Amino acid sequence: MDRIAITGGIRLEGVIPISGAKNSAIKLMVASLLTDETLTLTNMPRLADTRFLARLLQRLGVIVEEREGPAGAETVLTTPEILSTIAPYELVRQMRASFNVLGPLVARTGQAKVSLPGGCAIGARPVDLHLMALESLGARIDLHEGYVYAQAPRGLKGAEITFPSVSVGATEHALLTAVLARGETVIMNAAREPEIVDLAECLTKMGAKIEGAGTPTVRIVGVARLGGTEHAVTPDRIETGTYALAAAMAGGEVRLTRTRSDFVEALLQKMEEAGVEVERLNDGLTVRRDGERLSAVEIETDPYPGFATDLQAQFMALMTLADGESVIRETIFENRFMHAPELTRLGAEIAVSGGEARVRGVERLEGAPVMATDLRASVSLVIAALAARGETVVDRVYHLDRGFERLEEKLSACGARVRRIRDGGPSEEG
Ligand code: UD1
Repeated sequence: MDRIAITGGIRLEGVIPISGAKNSAIKLMVASLLTDETLTLTNMPRLADTRFLARLLQRLGVIVEEREGPAGAETVLTTPEILSTIAPYELVRQMRASFNVLGPLVARTGQAKVSLPGGCAIGARPVDLHLMALESLGARIDLHEGYVYAQAPRGLKGAEITFPSVSVGATEHALLTAVLARGETVIMNAAREPEIVDLAECLTKMGAKIEGAGTPTVRIVGVARLGGTEHAVTPDRIETGTYALAAAMAGGEVRLTRTRSDFVEALLQKMEEAGVEVERLNDGLTVRRDGERLSAVEIETDPYPGFATDLQAQFMALMTLADGESVIRETIFENRFMHAPELTRLGAEIAVSGGEARVRGVERLEGAPVMATDLRASVSLVIAALAARGETVVDRVYHLDRGFERLEEKLSACGARVRRIRDGGPSEEG
């Protein structure tokens, strides 16, 4: 397993271009199941997660071509016909979002058999809301030996779907399914994340009729068929926030380009409150911090436009060196503080109790060997390491590779000393 070694204490200066959003790209790829025409996705991130999903989609009948376009990586997806309606455990297990093929398969063919995603390192993460949405749309659902069997032999029908709590995945799943259902669907208490708006925009270009994406009420009028289109993946707000926090942690001045500051406004306000200088620009933002110590601030994670749970670990890393005590409340996922004991190995003082972590800022962190436990947790260790004295080696970086494209290269371009130690091979400067 690869590791990443970081030597801390170096200010970051430079420009980091932000990639297309992983969480958007994987839902957009799934949309290719809804049409026999070609869907071309530009501004695609090249990540382990997009590769996992491509493998599953190929199994279902999607022809996937990856190529370099004038503005970066593109993925071209065409599904002349569905060859299989079965998504097996070994492919769904690797990435929970692959569960979202269920609705589109039923919408296009009238049936599907998709493995339940199974447990996950950040809490139970059930799929009851996904299944509730599909049942409302007229699918018959049976659970049997770890698989969901869904059937709608006479097609799906529009319905009113009221989610009892906000779910990004279930909102997207309902959207991906209702676009081909007969009649009108209204989704209430829908998630409002930018990835939902991106998916709705792409589906609309494919011929879907959708109103209200990005608000709590989304209306869809089903159409008989969808066509192909070309769509640029929206910028990755989690990558944006992560590098903004990396710059704040290491100090210096970093400009993030090809992104949108409004996607991370909740984070930027907290960073400013802590004493980081932020400049919002047309195509991104600049983060600046000179030597002085940051102040501790409190955060609580919430659905968008609130503070993103996917930035909670990284913000905790920043708070480990702040002046005072920061309270961090996680309201989206249980068990999402696995980074806390690893940050403690670097010298941080963190007490976790239930859904709350108290971080008492220390004067300095010191490099140590640490272990990545999940995608966002692993990058919080990288952020902490950028400000720690000496060398930190992060083990199990396959978690990082799931969601961060060319991380070593992007940080090294700003002066960070980051290198990848290949399993059994020589180390490489990023
Ligand atoms: C997506 C993101 C993930 C992010 C999360 C919250 C992708 C691939 N992943 O995950 O990075 O952290 O949004 O912003 O886009 N829940 C249920 N029943 C369900 C579905 C969800 O109880 O059927 C619960 C979850 O356990 C969790 C909460 O709802 O406590 C929110 O989860 P959800 O918004 O669905 O997250 P994901 O779509 O899985």
